[in-house]
Amino acid sequence: MGKTPQRPILLTGGGRRIGLALAHHFLAEKHDVIVSYRARYPAIDVLEEMGATCIQADFSTDEGILEFAAQVKALTPTLRAIIHNASAWQTEKAGPISGEVITEMMQVHVHAPYLINLALEPLLRGNGHAASDIIHFTDYVVERGSEKHIAYAASKAALDNMTRSFARKLAPEVKVNAIAPSLILFNELDDAAYRQRALNKSLMKTEPGEKEIIDLVDYLLTSCYVTGRSFPVDGGRHLR
Ligand SMILES: NC(=O)c1ccc[n+]([C@@H]2O[C@H](COP(=O)([O-])OP(=O)(O)OC[C@H]3O[C@@H](n4cnc5c(N)ncnc54)[C@H](OP(=O)(O)O)[C@@H]3O)[C@@H](O)[C@H]2O)c1
Repeated sequence: MGKTPQRPILLTGGGRRIGLALAHHFLAEKHDVIVSYRARYPAIDVLEEMGATCIQADFSTDEGILEFAAQVKALTPTLRAIIHNASAWQTEKAGPISGEVITEMMQVHVHAPYLINLALEPLLRGNGHAASDIIHFTDYVVERGSEKHIAYAASKAALDNMTRSFARKLAPEVKVNAIAPSLILFNELDDAAYRQRALNKSLMKTEPGEKEIIDLVDYLLTSCYVTGRSFPVDGGRHLR
């Protein structure tokens, strides 16, 4: 008898950092994975060699998002989960005021999950009670706002709100939750002074790494009850 086909996990922005670590985690667990990437890094070749299906996609336009959803539909009739990890962290720019940054932030953090969830809803349904998941990656700044990343924070706050709307719409078949990280991984170019300031913002004063996120994703995927909630991963930053 042949192997029963798995329901793949769809992961956006899997070419680097947290998304890449999640893709490796699922592959190590022998789970089928479909990954979106924008820039093609050598890491994508490695994921493909390990069995992931990788799709080039740019979420800067609605057409790009809907084309990606159509490609996923053509690949599989069913999905186990959608993990919305893709993100950009733009600051407001000096110079003439324009809507460029907020448009870009809303496109990747709001239009992409909104359109992908609506387009792929039929692939998540039909598998029973609490059998599928959507996970949105938001940010600690959803609570606090951010004077340096105003549009980014606003777009992640909209995504946080969509978590509850989609949870209401898709229950009880699909659980929908958000993960709201603070510092998880530094960027390569962060200097020592920046790193120290960032570490001092939390009670735990550490850069925890991707495992904190992977463990929480695993928990959310195995729960049969938790939906419509946001999970902070912030080292107690709200108490500083
Ligand atoms: N790392 C942290 O400490 C931290 C803190 C708070 C929140 N988060 C959240 O956690 C998630 C993962 O964080 P991360 O640091 O691993 O993210 P990251 O390094 O910024 O990677 C984001 C991914 O999204 C992709 N992406 C960006 N814009 C896109 C677009 N227009 N279309 C398609 N793909 C696009 C990027 O592709 P390219 O490589 O081609 O640009 C990249 O693969 C994000 O949602 C982030 O907001 C992370």
